[in-house]
Amino acid sequence: MKYDVTVIGSGPGGYVAAIRCAQLGMKTAIIEKYNVLGGTCLNVGCIPSKALLDSSEHFHNAAHTFKEHGIELENLQVNLEQMINRKAGVVKSNNDGITYLMKKNKIDVYNGLGSFVNKNKIKVTPESGEAQEIETEKVIIATGSKPTVLPFLPVDKERIITSTEALKLKEVPKHMIIIGGGVIGLELGSVYARLGSKITVVEFLDSIIPTMDRALGKELQRVLKKTLGFEFFFQHKVTGATNTGEGVKVTAENPKGETVTFEGDYCLVSIGRKPYTDGLNLEAAGVQMAERGMIAVNDHLETNVPGIFAIGDVVRGAMLAHKAEEEGVLVAEYMAGQKPHINYNLIPGVVYTWPEVAGVGFTEEQLKEQGRAYKTGSFPFKASGRAKASMDTDGFVKVLADKNTDEILGVHMIGPRIADLIAEAVVAMEFRASAEDIARMSHAHPTYTEAMKEACLAATENRAIHI
Ligand code: FAD
Ligand code: NAI
Repeated sequence: MKYDVTVIGSGPGGYVAAIRCAQLGMKTAIIEKYNVLGGTCLNVGCIPSKALLDSSEHFHNAAHTFKEHGIELENLQVNLEQMINRKAGVVKSNNDGITYLMKKNKIDVYNGLGSFVNKNKIKVTPESGEAQEIETEKVIIATGSKPTVLPFLPVDKERIITSTEALKLKEVPKHMIIIGGGVIGLELGSVYARLGSKITVVEFLDSIIPTMDRALGKELQRVLKKTLGFEFFFQHKVTGATNTGEGVKVTAENPKGETVTFEGDYCLVSIGRKPYTDGLNLEAAGVQMAERGMIAVNDHLETNVPGIFAIGDVVRGAMLAHKAEEEGVLVAEYMAGQKPHINYNLIPGVVYTWPEVAGVGFTEEQLKEQGRAYKTGSFPFKASGRAKASMDTDGFVKVLADKNTDEILGVHMIGPRIADLIAEAVVAMEFRASAEDIARMSHAHPTYTEAMKEACLAATENRAIHI
């Protein structure tokens, strides 16, 4: 077979790129090594983690807040097997959805490992059966990422696990030790803490979610400690972990240089992810790599080999599904002769804990580093009528605006339904709104979105109404 474009990898980068290519009239193939489409995000990432976050949140609320609402329950129990089965059903229904979209857009799907024979020929080797070769004019590499592991801390997938195993445990851990206080550690830690596990986070730096605006990590740390009993150990350098049969022992060096030991029954290693290119045989096409295992690309996401592009987790930038999707669309449109553009500064980052956390644009730390004159406006959810009604009063919205022009430069939020609220900030910043613009727009009452308006009012002449 001969294609205009062949996509390798069916995650959010790859399948979205394939659809956009097909929409633009290109004869398109997609190669996926596994038998299901959707990549990390759908199978072992975004979707299953959110399914478990939702289930565990229901349990936590039933156990801890229903009574206050006047709802009394007896014999409340966790059925973990059912929770995991429901999650699997959610994943399956999305797998089917992507298969349908491939058919609808007349995209040929090949299951098997894709590897370059040369720049225009790709060999597909299925798990069983004959390998075949397909010819292609152009290629989009969207092979994603895998968890980073430490050489002195081998993951045995039984007691010392990554997010993939944590999404299908057979029991609720008594004590889970989490190495890395980033997004995965806090989301999956929240799942199990809500179901009754004790959670200990051992973090190398001095804060959780350290790349986000520092005010967010500080507030999230306070709330996770208060509501779920999280324990945090900062500036601890993990030195090893052993499976003792019944549990795990994790050793670390504390800030004083002393060795400390943490004992639990599971250890989740969540210290970041690394680009995945194993088996691609990139040398055969002459594709060059960048630092830390990434594929090197230019502003159009084209590699050093004309006609071969790379997108998503396998290239530089945030390892996020929506970033990968935007890149997939960009490459397809660029191939079709259009002039697409991505504003990387406006890709929002979200953490699906409760309260949820999100940020877009520059952090306060970045503005300080740039020496830019800025002003801030904040609004706490404890002053929001809507948040009082739902008993979700932790958190705040913080707006950073240019001191002279009032243009919004960054918005950082922690609180209820923030994952959805951040979209307003993205829209405002895409259109280069000023804080005054948002402050003057009507926001329905009572909603959590009023906190954004109030924070903008606070940023413009300190005129928030409700604080
Ligand atoms: P991937 O989704 O990793 O897909 C790559 C695909 O390529 C895989 O299916 C792989 O099997 C296939 N492949 C690799 N090599 C070959 C080959 N040689 N031949 C054929 N196929 C190949 N991001 C968010 O934005 N929001 C979230 O809520 C979120 N939650 C997450 C939760 C967890 C637990 C994890 C681990 C990640 C989460 N992410 C989230 C990150 C998100 O999953 C990734 O950023 C996203 O999946 C990257 O998309 P991609 O298309 O680049 O690669
Ligand atoms: P992460 O980069 O978010 O966090 C890793 C944390 O581990 C950091 O705080 C880092 O300082 C710490 N760390 C690194 N090495 C360490 C060590 N040796 N000892 C102790 N701590 C150490 O990575 P994470 O949580 O593994 O997630 C991987 C990627 O998946 C993220 O980059 C994120 O983009 C994506 N993801 C996104 C989600 C979302 O959008 N909601 C959810 C889950 C994952």
